[in-house]
Amino acid sequence: MKTIACCLVVFLSISVVLIYGDSRQWGRRVSGDRLLDYAVAVNNSLPVPEKSSIYRYLPAAGAYRPPNITAIVARDNVPAGKGGYAGIVSGGVNQSNVTLKLTSKPYQRFNFTIEIYGR
Ligand SMILES: *[C@@H]1O[C@H](CO)[C@@H](O)[C@H](O)[C@H]1NC(C)=O
Ligand SMILES: *[C@@H]1O[C@H](CO)[C@@H](O)[C@H](O)[C@H]1NC(C)=O
Ligand SMILES: *[C@@H]1O[C@H](CO)[C@@H](O)[C@H](O)[C@H]1NC(C)=O
Ligand SMILES: *[C@@H]1O[C@H](CO)[C@@H](O)[C@H](O)[C@H]1NC(C)=O
Ligand SMILES: *[C@@H]1O[C@H](CO)[C@@H](O)[C@H](O)[C@H]1NC(C)=O
Repeated sequence: MKTIACCLVVFLSISVVLIYGDSRQWGRRVSGDRLLDYAVAVNNSLPVPEKSSIYRYLPAAGAYRPPNITAIVARDNVPAGKGGYAGIVSGGVNQSNVTLKLTSKPYQRFNFTIEIYGR
């Protein structure tokens, strides 16, 4: 049963990669991690040549032990490669925080789903 579930997850991940060509992932999920943050970042203001946006994940202020990031997923929701580009500006896997910069292609919109996992 577990093997089947694993295969399914791998298969679905590959499908997602095929459908959403510009999606990116850093690090990988490990057992015991959990979803730390989830966000949808959208910029639809079409007349602007290049749209960009900063997304920042910070651990809750005063956390006794901030979670260690295991995986960062930026899933491009705009089909057929018309979406944008996601890159890490600072922080990242094995750190407690991350800042992503999301940029559109010229005169295109972007719509990213961002997931941060950690433990
Ligand atoms: C979209 O991007 C443009 C250019 O970077 C920016 O001026 C505008 O505020 C952004 N809109 C949103 C909703 O983030
Ligand atoms: C962004 O993409 C998601 C997933 O496809 C969709 O549900 C959502 O409506 C989109 N948001 C906008 C503002 O286009
Ligand atoms: C994070 O730490 C793990 C375990 O030490 C290591 O395998 C992995 O390569 C590290 N990843 C990065 C991006 O530093
Ligand atoms: C996160 O985990 C990695 C691998 O175990 C470790 O090297 C790193 O120091 C940890 N970072 C923090 C901020 O706890
Ligand atoms: C992000 O984490 C690093 C250590 O992993 C720390 O040095 C830095 O100050 C943190 N940045 C913010 C904005 O909290």
